[in-house]
Amino acid sequence: MTEDFDVKLVEHAKYYRPAAEYKNNSWIGDYKKAYDRFQKDPELFWSGIAKDLEWIRPWDTVLDWNYPYAKWFVNAKLNITANCLDRHVKSDRRNKAALIWRGEDGAERVYTYQQLLTEVMRFANGLKKLGVQKGDRVCIYMPMIPEQVIAMLACARIGAVHSVVFAGFGMTALNMRITDAEAKIVITSDISIRRGKAIPLITIVQEAIDNAPSVEHVIIHRRRKDQPVTIRADFELDFYGIMEDVPAICEPEVMDAEDPLFILYTSGSTGTPKGVLHTCAGYMVGTYYTSKYVFDLKERDIYWCTADPGWITGHSYIVYGPLAVGATVFLSELTPDYPDAGIWWKLIEEQRINVFYTAPTAIRTFMKLGEVWPNKYDLSSLRVIGSVGEPLNPEAFEWYYKVIGKDRCPIVDTWWQTETGMQMITTMIGEPMRPGFAGKAIPGVEVDVVDKDGTSVRPGTGGFLVVKKPWPAMLRTVYKNDERYRKYWETIKGCYAAGDLAVKGKDGNIMVIGRADDIIIVAGHNIGTAEVESALVSHHAVAESAVIGKPDTLKGNLIKAFVILRVGNTPSDKLTSDLIYHVRVTLGPIAVPHEIEYVDKLPKTRSGKIMRRVLKAKELGIDPGDISTLDE
Ligand code: WT7
Repeated sequence: MTEDFDVKLVEHAKYYRPAAEYKNNSWIGDYKKAYDRFQKDPELFWSGIAKDLEWIRPWDTVLDWNYPYAKWFVNAKLNITANCLDRHVKSDRRNKAALIWRGEDGAERVYTYQQLLTEVMRFANGLKKLGVQKGDRVCIYMPMIPEQVIAMLACARIGAVHSVVFAGFGMTALNMRITDAEAKIVITSDISIRRGKAIPLITIVQEAIDNAPSVEHVIIHRRRKDQPVTIRADFELDFYGIMEDVPAICEPEVMDAEDPLFILYTSGSTGTPKGVLHTCAGYMVGTYYTSKYVFDLKERDIYWCTADPGWITGHSYIVYGPLAVGATVFLSELTPDYPDAGIWWKLIEEQRINVFYTAPTAIRTFMKLGEVWPNKYDLSSLRVIGSVGEPLNPEAFEWYYKVIGKDRCPIVDTWWQTETGMQMITTMIGEPMRPGFAGKAIPGVEVDVVDKDGTSVRPGTGGFLVVKKPWPAMLRTVYKNDERYRKYWETIKGCYAAGDLAVKGKDGNIMVIGRADDIIIVAGHNIGTAEVESALVSHHAVAESAVIGKPDTLKGNLIKAFVILRVGNTPSDKLTSDLIYHVRVTLGPIAVPHEIEYVDKLPKTRSGKIMRRVLKAKELGIDPGDISTLDE
């Protein structure tokens, strides 16, 4: 990437400046001062934040950094649920709504902090009764309902390590995650409800546990009262059943700062997903801090993040962060287009949402549908609007700013990852925003754009996005694969390589361009090319395949697969739909190719590696760059 990149940047050089009161009333105050305070003494900065929270035993040292291994809040003891629940129950927030949930059918449930704590303790005691102990892995495969959140918090209560699997994943993807984590328990629902349709989850679970010897029990939350499902009487338990006849109180397990809190799988550049491991104290402090300071959450706010708790966005900014702050969290399983494209704006009006956090793919979809939908509703309660998951392109920024934020609300375009656990780059409330740029490192974080040797690039040019210092919510390892963890810190000397390409603006703002590796971001979801390829190759008709991402104005990218068939098979529409169905069942609907092309050959290096870059260049009609390694 060269200077001419800045030509593009200049086109959108306009800054949006929020009203002065935003800065004056914000928790962060002056960004620059806060950033300087952090740089002067990072450990003092983070311990200052951590002191807001409750600790069973305080830390001896804030950070023990033994490259690339970090320990944060060394020797401290805590339980994250004591901070997300008990801390508030002991205070004036006891009867404040912690969670307000809206189902597709209009059902609404409200849990106060006291009620949520009570449910979590009962479910935690239910798990204990089944023999679940500190350190055991529990897989949660549920729709976006309060029980999903309760299950997560109940695990954390007793020190069990949850591994939440997004309910859109298919059978093989679920099986892989259960077996890799050696989960003892799988918690699921009979169905999830999407666009008025019931999608059975239990049948997927039933198949996924077939070859998963670690699983001792399946706990089923039954939404369908009319048709109670059952899979295996000796094996299954009822979600509310295990909450009966247990003590009402479950004291929080005493956790060491560095004890694992959860594993969350994310796509990597191989066919097997990476079990990103997060630990208790650092993750708690990082998500608490960002929830409060990036969203500028205030006591009376109602906050809505449209993500699924099953992704890292939901872990950090539906469950742990906002609850640690003591916020009121709105959760809804409603997709943005059902019953019509006005539903989200209607919910904002009805609930008087103050802080709203969603993804660029949703924003672009709404843009396409037009202003009529949001304009039908009163969005004046909104104060801060956020974006996450992929670059928020300038056009989408401007639409979001004008049509949703009414030229008034700051946009926090937050860059972060499953691995970072917490938001890392954004424009802090009150600072001038530049469309197309996520912003700058938040106080507490140091990032840069560098070349492959780790040298800082000149402002106005591009390179690899890196993090230069450890941060509290950083992943500690990849579960059972520490080598993959070390790779993050060994790819570019002296720093954490995020795997993203970025441009550093002359004003210090960072524009994230996209992935530098074989990961495709489709509608904000990370899909590994290798995962889709191995799903395709597992079909009997397929000999080989290569998968690329094709830019798409709505979804960011679409998946295109090139397929070489085994001898004896011929391309047909029927085969294409069979292959699509096969990927859907294996990996889930989010990983389904949009297009399949049958080919006789794939471009490869002499060492036999598929050159996806060459396929992509050909597809897009652009220069493939260096092809000297291509085997003709
Ligand atoms: C990748 C991480 C973090 C929660 C959701 C995704 C991309 C994320 C932004 C943003 C540009 C972004 C990056 C990153 N990404 N946020 N604001 N601007 N790109 O988590 O699945 O771990 O994906 O999403 O490419 O590396 P994830």
